[in-house]
Amino acid sequence: MKDITDKVVLVTGGSKGLGRQLASRFAREGAKVVLWARTQADLDQAVDELRSDGWQAWAYSVDVTDVDRVLEAAAKVKEDIGPVDVLVNNAGFVCGGPFLDVSAEEHQKTMDVNFNAYMWTMKAFMPDMVERDSGHIINISSAAGLSYAPLMASYCGSKAAVINFTDSMRLEMKYLGKKGVKFTIVCPAFISTGMFEGVEVPWWLPWLDPEDLADKIYQGYQKDSPMVAEPLFPKLAPAFRAANPRRLLDHMLTFWGLSDAMKEWRGHEGKK
Ligand SMILES: NC(=O)c1ccc[n+]([C@@H]2O[C@H](COP(=O)([O-])OP(=O)(O)OC[C@H]3O[C@@H](n4cnc5c(N)ncnc54)[C@H](O)[C@@H]3O)[C@@H](O)[C@H]2O)c1
Repeated sequence: MKDITDKVVLVTGGSKGLGRQLASRFAREGAKVVLWARTQADLDQAVDELRSDGWQAWAYSVDVTDVDRVLEAAAKVKEDIGPVDVLVNNAGFVCGGPFLDVSAEEHQKTMDVNFNAYMWTMKAFMPDMVERDSGHIINISSAAGLSYAPLMASYCGSKAAVINFTDSMRLEMKYLGKKGVKFTIVCPAFISTGMFEGVEVPWWLPWLDPEDLADKIYQGYQKDSPMVAEPLFPKLAPAFRAANPRRLLDHMLTFWGLSDAMKEWRGHEGKK
């Protein structure tokens, strides 16, 4: 097992949901955990909880879609705590509904939070990783990036972009002789954090518990796994997609209930 005592692990969207569980998982192993999120009150609460458990935690209020703020906050983290060893790109956003009914601003935000921000944080933290030929980037994508579904098209697009981008970066680091910089893509189906509140999950995609998933992601980090996918369906999705023509896939996904899943989506804010 890799010893992560005093390693600096930065989690975006780390004050709530899966990010909060990942922060606890790494902190419990002795890492110095740095949380980024937008709301100071949520960050303060998360840091207080982590510190009261005897763990090392810091927080910075950062909107990850603001590239200037990302670069500024990254410099401050380096000055205050040290270079980042593990970057967890976790902050995410979804606005469900028919593509034409969702505003251009919401689609833009989907791409900015779920994809562009991953590039900004990697621009900010990778130079130290490359220089030391050591580091690990965990990019949270989704089963939505491996398969596809109606009423969440831009979300699926943003998550598919994360997969291809991260795979390309892994190969690029090898090509540049920086084999010490590792990447793990995470593709979970629905997680019970509230982001997909209202979704009717099909029987073959049961709700994932964020604490259990954080543990599986941590194990993936320990093994340098290129991908962690949960539950079974996203593990099989690439082969399943390659083996079946698109028209047949459309029928199968509809027959198995995926097309209806987002019909009653409310998300965190109870909006449709
Ligand atoms: N919940 C699911 O069913 C599910 C399934 C697959 C993948 N995911 C992905 O897992 C990750 C975590 O999602 P979650 O379920 O914990 O959702 P969540 O909504 O509970 O957490 C998302 C976090 O991102 C933060 N965030 C959003 N926009 C931000 C911004 N501009 N700057 C900084 N922080 C920002 C939010 O404040 C929140 O803390 C996301 O990338 C999500 O897309 C979630």
